[in-house]
Amino acid sequence: MTSAPAGLDPESHQREALELISSAPDEGALEELRVQFLGRRAVLSEQLSRLGSLPPDQRREAGARLNRVKTALQQGLDARREALRSDGSGTLAAIEAIDLTFPGRVPRRGHPHPVMRVWREMEDIFRGLGYDVARGPEVDNDYYTFEALNMPAGHPARDGFDTFFTAADNTEETAETRVLLRPHTSPMQIRYMETHEAPIRVIIPGKTYRRDNDATHVPMFHQLEGLVVDEGITVADLKGTLEYFARAMFGDQRRIRLRPDHFPFTEPSLEVHVSCMQCDGSGCVLCRHSGWIEILGSGMVHPNVLRYGGIDPERCTGFAFGCGIDRVAMLKYGIDDLRSLFENDVRMIRQF
Ligand code: PHE
Repeated sequence: MTSAPAGLDPESHQREALELISSAPDEGALEELRVQFLGRRAVLSEQLSRLGSLPPDQRREAGARLNRVKTALQQGLDARREALRSDGSGTLAAIEAIDLTFPGRVPRRGHPHPVMRVWREMEDIFRGLGYDVARGPEVDNDYYTFEALNMPAGHPARDGFDTFFTAADNTEETAETRVLLRPHTSPMQIRYMETHEAPIRVIIPGKTYRRDNDATHVPMFHQLEGLVVDEGITVADLKGTLEYFARAMFGDQRRIRLRPDHFPFTEPSLEVHVSCMQCDGSGCVLCRHSGWIEILGSGMVHPNVLRYGGIDPERCTGFAFGCGIDRVAMLKYGIDDLRSLFENDVRMIRQF
């Protein structure tokens, strides 16, 4: 606004003022406009105070016009103030957009999968016994998976480890070039013996693959392999170790029993059963009323396997075992469908 024109046109003054008011960027600017248009020294105020000097016949009409403008400007200021406050800009909230006293939003925490929990627990148990932890390739070849484990081509036991082979890219395949997803962690027995001298105490946890898919089998599952090789290792060592493991995992009350089994890579082979963790042996649905639950396959390492691993079977003996990590998780947490472990439903996983 420039200086007050002698003959102020109230309506155009109103239009100009409202334009400025409605685009005031913040409350500070708005206050300046209020002083400019409605303050004591504003044009409008001066005009109003001069009303008394007008002839009475003009006074009435001029007064009414000026007061209409005053009211319009007041309403315009109020409306703009309201608008600035509600969109937050220009208010204290906008200036202090970060309220340091406001309680933080708690982020959703991740959670270990039940299989990973059991995996780690098993690792801890064996680390406590002085075992090394090794990992091996999930993609392996026929030699380590079968041949060196005493299952030459055509051996019927291979059927039990039916897995996924990669498509042949050459006609002259050999055990070394035939590539597959490992159906068990046992190939690592050979790989580990090739690179380590006795005494050997190692566990190898990891993913394994088989062509199975039902309530108790999935194409990808987890195993934990154990291998001990030294002079004078006997079945008593196997039994003591696995009983210790069963108790650490399932409770001090647990007992184990050994049943004959068959694996080409162990002799003798032993199925390890643990007394039912639910009924303690009296019989229930979990143990199918037998009182016992199979937890792993094991045995004394076959002399041929020691030889394949570069170890003299006249000097050293050993035991090995392979335990399904998913199976232990199911038993430990009472999960009855193996597939539910792999459906990635957080409502299921969050329970553990
Ligand atoms: N590899 C065997 C399986 O997957 C388990 C096993 C491991 C048995 C080591 C004996 C010794 O069924």
